[in-house]
Amino acid sequence: MEDILPLLRVTGADLAALYAQADAVRRAHCGEAVPIRAIIEFSNQCTNDCLYCGIRASNPVPRRYRMTPAEILAAVRQVAGAGVAGTVVLQSGEAPGAGDDQIAAILHDIKAVFPDLAITLSVGNRSRATYATWQAAGMDRYLLRFETSDPDLFARLHPACTLAERLQCLHDLQDLGVQTGGGFMIGLPGETMEILAANLLLCREFDFDMIGIGPFIPNPETPIGEQPNAYADDPDMFFRAIAVLRLVNPRAHIPATTAFDAWFSNGRDLALQRGANVFMPNATPGPLRQDYQLYPGKPCIDEDAFACARCVQARLRALGRPVAAGPGHSLKTSKGSHSDS
Ligand code: 5AD
Ligand code: FES
Repeated sequence: MEDILPLLRVTGADLAALYAQADAVRRAHCGEAVPIRAIIEFSNQCTNDCLYCGIRASNPVPRRYRMTPAEILAAVRQVAGAGVAGTVVLQSGEAPGAGDDQIAAILHDIKAVFPDLAITLSVGNRSRATYATWQAAGMDRYLLRFETSDPDLFARLHPACTLAERLQCLHDLQDLGVQTGGGFMIGLPGETMEILAANLLLCREFDFDMIGIGPFIPNPETPIGEQPNAYADDPDMFFRAIAVLRLVNPRAHIPATTAFDAWFSNGRDLALQRGANVFMPNATPGPLRQDYQLYPGKPCIDEDAFACARCVQARLRALGRPVAAGPGHSLKTSKGSHSDS
């Protein structure tokens, strides 16, 4: 904590040096090639009511959808056909129940047709037994942000779950040997710099395989839509957070998350130059995207999967960074035991 807080305060030439250092650590541990994970937001049905989120159950605005297994497989086929992404990420709102068996079936079907494609699932809190079933069906990885490490702030934002329950899910996933991704939002209302530093340290403690962080963006369709990001006056903080995240997690896969683009038009490109090493283009069928707006200003709403695949190639070319070949599995050699930094 004492080491991290000063880094979150640097400005001017020191800030440029922090970014350069994060970029160098990224290059040394992850290389120049950028693993691409295509994300398919296969359902916006959600039984939760997270106070920041646009697909929360009580928001009447989004038209609720759930892609059929055939539609999901068709979207995956497009991703595989484009040949850019080595991983497909299946994400949805949190809607436990009957659909969980369908998820197992779709994992199995995808692996049967595309054995070389890695599958990441991101559908929220579940029991260890459910995660184990999905793992047996072909799930390689799981993304589940802890959102904030502060138990009180977590409780205020999540009516249906506690921080302890969320962390238990992450422990279960790691214990099963699923490549596990955690992360948090930067600048939730009520977040202090001490909480931000604790968020960064919690990622380090878990020693996650992947870590997704991005700025909180107030959504006017939600109860906290009028509350500004805690760093609205200092958006450099979003990049300080990415840079420090890289310094304390040298070998983690860190995506340049979509929310960076909602804040700055080239936000994801900047993130890739300040510590991030992964890009996650949207591969959700075009017409559904308007109903998966977790926050306003989400990019790519009017594009389709082909447009995003082309866009990511152009962006990386402009940065001089090649697309990584292969599934882009975890870079960690010995899980939970790295001792550097
Ligand atoms: N601003 C930024 N990120 C958000 N998420 C949800 N709502 C918002 C918002 N208003 C993020 C959460 C979640 C991920 C899928 O999207 O961190 O884990
Ligand atoms: Fe469902 Fe946020 S309200 S994940």
